[in-house]
Amino acid sequence: MTRGPASETQTPTPTPLWAAAQSRRWQSSVTAAVCSVLCVVLGACSKHAPESGSGGGETQPNRLTVSPASSQASTSAGEATRPVAAERAPIVDPIPPHTVPALTAREKVGQSIFLDTTLSNPPGTSCASCHDPDTAFSGNNGSASGVARGSRPGHFARRNAPSVMYVKFVPPFHFALEDDDDVAESPFGGLTWSGRADTVAEFARLPLFDADEMNNASEAEVARKLRGSPYAADLAREFPGALETPAASMKALGEALQVFLTSDTMSPFTSKFDDFLRGKARLSPLEMKGLTAFENRAKGACNHCHQMYPHSNRPESSLFTTYAYDAVGVPRNRAIAANADPERYDLGLCERKQKAGRPLDSSDPKWCGSFRIPSLRNVAVRQRFMHNGVFTKLRDVVAFYATRSTNPDLWYPHGARFDDVPDRYRSNVNTLSFPYNRRERDPPALDDADIDAIVAFLQTLTDEPYRSRIALAAAHTASNETTP
Ligand code: HEC
Ligand code: HEC
Repeated sequence: MTRGPASETQTPTPTPLWAAAQSRRWQSSVTAAVCSVLCVVLGACSKHAPESGSGGGETQPNRLTVSPASSQASTSAGEATRPVAAERAPIVDPIPPHTVPALTAREKVGQSIFLDTTLSNPPGTSCASCHDPDTAFSGNNGSASGVARGSRPGHFARRNAPSVMYVKFVPPFHFALEDDDDVAESPFGGLTWSGRADTVAEFARLPLFDADEMNNASEAEVARKLRGSPYAADLAREFPGALETPAASMKALGEALQVFLTSDTMSPFTSKFDDFLRGKARLSPLEMKGLTAFENRAKGACNHCHQMYPHSNRPESSLFTTYAYDAVGVPRNRAIAANADPERYDLGLCERKQKAGRPLDSSDPKWCGSFRIPSLRNVAVRQRFMHNGVFTKLRDVVAFYATRSTNPDLWYPHGARFDDVPDRYRSNVNTLSFPYNRRERDPPALDDADIDAIVAFLQTLTDEPYRSRIALAAAHTASNETTP
């Protein structure tokens, strides 16, 4: 955790300084990289609009357009030597040069709100405290337990904070057929690990008023802070009427955060993998081996849930999630203080409050233990993994997939398998999908070399501004070869 939350918590009154300091820091890293992209590519914005959802809401989910050819990705071992995209005829229409546009005035207002540490009670915790721009908008506000620390001492959110990059692609919560030959519809999408909201605007209230997160008492309190903020005039200009009533302020705040988080800046597609798709970069032999193991059903079969289309030159087709839900059965995180209570469980999707009148019910007990499949973009710069933050190293996560079923004692040392799911729901945990459909003491689907290769491949999913962070993470992993 690089952000020193304590040092930022003591801002007694709104001053322009916090904003300047925080946003400068971020802008210097993000926009420097964005600029480098812009400078390489001569000419103005010729951005390609993604075909899937915008604004976290209006479009049909899970309908990322993929050409038929690209969806027939072969999984043979020979793929490691597959030519890079540049050497093949384009499969879909040629895409224009990649540019990441600068933030618009409206998006900038959202950015200011996102960085505003006065919007908590006591002041000091902004959205960015838990979604740290330095670590690809993930992080837990300095918490050491794996779940995010709130604005008050000793208060913690229930879960590990996900990255808020690429949220524009998260479809609203819905049921749909997962595969063409499925008979029953399954859940997809919705924001958070359990689909608790459909849009950023709708979601933004939750952390602001959650006593364990930003702990504001009322809309009036938040509205007062917005009125006194250094960006109040910008807010009123870009969102007319925003400062007139607390309700109008909340509405404007939600919209501003939404336009910021769903801006193209927050979905930059500037990773090495994206350049590989565009035919502008080569993956190393190790990374290529990882890519193959990632999609090969006899190896990781990760692609089934963390979907990518390496033959498509459209990065938006490879979001590394289907937005479906799965019960992976991750180990209980005993570092979470609240977990001292053996009856305390996070049941995930089945705790979601179902809106009335929907035919299919997310509170069906069969969804207990299921969490939304996270995107793996920028996963290599995360410090905590899984909804409960139980893992601290990316390599451990991959190793967990390899040996969860073949050597469960490595992961559940306390005896009970799937020990973070209550007994009565343990049969919900997925034991049928690759790679965890093996029996105890079978050889694991992935050996150590495969695991290292997948980690190397996952590191190629890191966007430009964060690439330097991988070296740190890799050094950390190399010096900690304790992974089973
Ligand atoms: C105290 C830490 C904390 C703060 C502060 C915080 N968040 Fe979060 N955020 C989380 C956690 C934890 C989750 C996962 C919640 C869950 O799964 O129930 C989350 C989830 C999200 C998501 C869903 C991402 C996804 O992929 O589904 C969005 C969007 C988001 N936060 C935006 C915000 C905004 C905007 C703010 C400021 C108004 C904010 N957060 C403040 C901890 C925090
Ligand atoms: C059957 C679906 C499925 C398969 C197959 C699968 N995953 Fe996952 N993955 C998930 C779900 C669901 C989660 C979140 C689980 C949780 O937090 O309880 C997850 C979480 C992760 C995370 C943590 C991300 C974060 O932000 O915390 C990583 C890394 C990951 N998976 C990598 C892989 C790799 C590598 C493979 C292949 C070896 C793989 N996954 C195969 C469904 C799957």
